[in-house]
Amino acid sequence: MARPHIEPFVELNESYKTFTLPGFTPSGSHYKVLSLDTDIGSCSLKMRFDNGYKRKPGMSYSDMEIFILTGAMKVGDQACGEGHYLFVPAGYALGAIDVPDGCEALVMYNDSEPSFLESDCHHPLCLKEGFVSINSYQDAPWAPGNLVNPSVAAGVMIKVLHYDVLTEAISFIYSMTPEFMQDNISYHDCAEESYHIWGESWMLQFGDLPTGGYFWRPPYINHGSFRSKLGTIAFGRTDSKLHNYFHFNPWSNPDENKLRSAAQLYRQRPALFQWVASDGHNHPHGPMDFETPHYHDNPQVKHTHAHHDHPHHHHHHHHHHDHD
Ligand SMILES: [Fe+2]
Repeated sequence: MARPHIEPFVELNESYKTFTLPGFTPSGSHYKVLSLDTDIGSCSLKMRFDNGYKRKPGMSYSDMEIFILTGAMKVGDQACGEGHYLFVPAGYALGAIDVPDGCEALVMYNDSEPSFLESDCHHPLCLKEGFVSINSYQDAPWAPGNLVNPSVAAGVMIKVLHYDVLTEAISFIYSMTPEFMQDNISYHDCAEESYHIWGESWMLQFGDLPTGGYFWRPPYINHGSFRSKLGTIAFGRTDSKLHNYFHFNPWSNPDENKLRSAAQLYRQRPALFQWVASDGHNHPHGPMDFETPHYHDNPQVKHTHAHHDHPHHHHHHHHHHDHD
């Protein structure tokens, strides 16, 4: 079970709990759970570090990400102020942490529950080249939000802070201009996460998301249309490749969206689709696209997939599709 859908969630309405997991500095830090995978323990936390909090140098068994929301922390020799972003690969020995004047941050463990092992050298298997340390407010330029195609509407700006070359997962900050609007409905193959650092936005399905608003949204869930009256700046992530599937059907459900995405894969990468879908029974159907249910009969599609000319003439005694 992956992380459940939580949206909208406004963390400012919740109170902190004391962070007391074994291995960590026993006092001076606090947390709110924003989202949690209860099987593997991966999570996104909002954390508060009190004045005088210190932690020795050390590593985690999970990739982790830190985004400083307010205040500052010193990590080794590096001063990390508001907007500072760290991607810390599993096994990376992060320098000692020192928080003289208090600090709030998003702290994310991507692969397992939070863990800390004191160490001043990296684990031998650490992919230490993956380490990122950047002040997202000061050290990176805003770019138009159209880094993927099809794109969000004009009026979203983005700074990509981390890009995983294998999964195309991205971590980023983004901003909607005041009076931003986008009229279509979107969903993705990836999970999508956002924390509103400041500002507000509105979505057809989930209403207003104010400052401190958060969501973890699993794949294939409709979101949009969108509005932002006053503008917003937010931290966001995906867990794999972001593709915008747009449409105008507010009633489609995640299973229907998944089939429509599979139908697109079938049309655009037929050889790959057939290799994947034929596993075990060797006679793939094209999936059902709720917007264009008869696309199998499109001559262009038929031309390249000859054995789909008669998709309903198969005997389906052993036919079983598992669309998950
Ligand atoms: Fe999205």
